[in-house]
Amino acid sequence: MTMETRTAPSAAQASTDTPTIAAVGVIGAGQMGSGIAHVCALAGLEVTLLDVNPQALERALGVIARNMERQVAKGAISAADKEAALARISTGTDYAIFAGADLVIEAATEKEEIKTAIFRALCPHLKPGCLVATNTSSISITRLAASTDRPGKFIGMHFMNPVPVMKLVEVIRGIATEEPTFQAIQALAAKLGKTTAVAEDFPAFIVNRILVPMINEAAYALYEGVGDIRSIDTAMRLGANHPMGPLELADFIGLDTCLSIMQVLHEGLADSKYRPCPLLVKYVEAGWLGRKTGKGFYDYSGETPRPTR
Ligand code: CAA
Repeated sequence: MTMETRTAPSAAQASTDTPTIAAVGVIGAGQMGSGIAHVCALAGLEVTLLDVNPQALERALGVIARNMERQVAKGAISAADKEAALARISTGTDYAIFAGADLVIEAATEKEEIKTAIFRALCPHLKPGCLVATNTSSISITRLAASTDRPGKFIGMHFMNPVPVMKLVEVIRGIATEEPTFQAIQALAAKLGKTTAVAEDFPAFIVNRILVPMINEAAYALYEGVGDIRSIDTAMRLGANHPMGPLELADFIGLDTCLSIMQVLHEGLADSKYRPCPLLVKYVEAGWLGRKTGKGFYDYSGETPRPTR
């Protein structure tokens, strides 16, 4: 006699069907979270945006509306597209808003303990098939996945800033990520009009493994007096054809984010070539985090940005 045992499907169980994503939740209403909500809503997805701070949600809705208006002014989308997309975004401060989500993308602060606390609070509110992605720019996908009840349905989906403009999404599988999860995220990125680059789960993946040490090196060039802020940025804008100089770009990304990526590289790869520049550390300690605080390598309080050194 043969015995057959069946168990009810669980979140942890592997499935072979590629899930369809129609409703997306986004955690964090900062510059990345609002950009992700923006592109998802324009692609026709229902979006729920969560932040602990209701004022951040209000601000994000204003930013999204203004950025969509830029696209209307350029003729990239119609005014009706904009209105329809904005109507697809709802906001809230309670994880219960994600009950109907097919995918939740976490875009909170780049701190591992904050992200794992979010995942622990989030998972009980999700339907069993809901996928979870993180927009982390450097932290191990495998480790973050282990703080959820669904490592097979967990993946890295790393957008670039400004999300509506930048064409790339890095996709990073953790050790447990199942193939249907990967395929669903590839299909979603295509629907958003993005091109993907698949990276292995190593500290900072591809873009930031290369980009942020360059920014750190620019901070060292400033620290050692190789050039002043304007010279360094002009050199790389005109000499290497970068759209922004590295220090201007650091202010745009956020100096705290740049520093935490360097710390992840330094600790994760244990190589002294990744040591964060002391000047970058000092700016972050001063609360000079770049554009978001009005001051970083440049001061943004006047008509045009002024170097702070
Ligand atoms: N939403 C929608 N559209 C926007 C936008 C936004 N937030 N910001 C800019 N745009 C649009 C503008 O409307 C304009 O559109 P058209 O080309 O159709 O005219 C276009 O983008 C260019 O913008 P601007 O003319 O205002 O300014 P610009 O020419 O100086 O370009 C920039 C701005 C696109 C940001 C450009 O300077 C750039 O590419 N900078 C480098 C950005 C970069 O490297 N990003 C990656 C950072 S690393 C990262 O994100 C990963 C991480 O984890 C840290």
